Amino acid sequence: MKQKTDKIAVFASGNGSNFEAIVTAIEQGNLQVEVVLLVVDKPQCYAVERAKNHHIEVFAFQSKNYPSKEAYETEIADLLEQKDVKLIALAGYMRLIGSVLLSRFSKRILNIHPALLPAFPGLHAIEQAYNYGVKIFGITIHYVDAGMDTGEIVAQECFHVETSDSLEAIETRIHALEHKLYPIVIQQIINTL
Ligand code: GRF
Repeated sequence: MKQKTDKIAVFASGNGSNFEAIVTAIEQGNLQVEVVLLVVDKPQCYAVERAKNHHIEVFAFQSKNYPSKEAYETEIADLLEQKDVKLIALAGYMRLIGSVLLSRFSKRILNIHPALLPAFPGLHAIEQAYNYGVKIFGITIHYVDAGMDTGEIVAQECFHVETSDSLEAIETRIHALEHKLYPIVIQQIINTL
């Protein structure tokens, strides 16, 4: 009998290149999950275009249309449960996850961050690290908790840079590393669920 493919959802707010990397890994047979939903809080973001290109369903919401975070997270959590989603992968989702999703998807939400946490949490992490002058850059995949990039670390990868490397060149390397590592870690975590 064919094994059931585990279902995941990806949350994004912007470009969606990590979302696309996950979908590509699936299409190439390197990741045995199904992305059943892309959740975005910005209906016009480019990630939505990518989802359309891959025929993936999108749930787009605007927080201003809801009375509270609990209200929109309840709608999202209901939808995810209806779709039997096992794991949520945040990929450039620019909101803190609240108590509703944290309790209903406990230890089942991952995030990817473009720095070696706990250094440089929050926005513009690559630029923060570059301006600080660090010589080792990297990325972190971690479980999500109520804080900003504070959850338990699952995986990290890093590389050395030369003083002459530009911010743009480093950003390109960071994103390439993200696109490689996130599908691998998603597979590892889903295998434990
Ligand atoms: C990535 O650098 C990710 O680490 C961070 O937000 C960025 C999202 O990029 N959380 P994209 O939308 O996946 O292209």
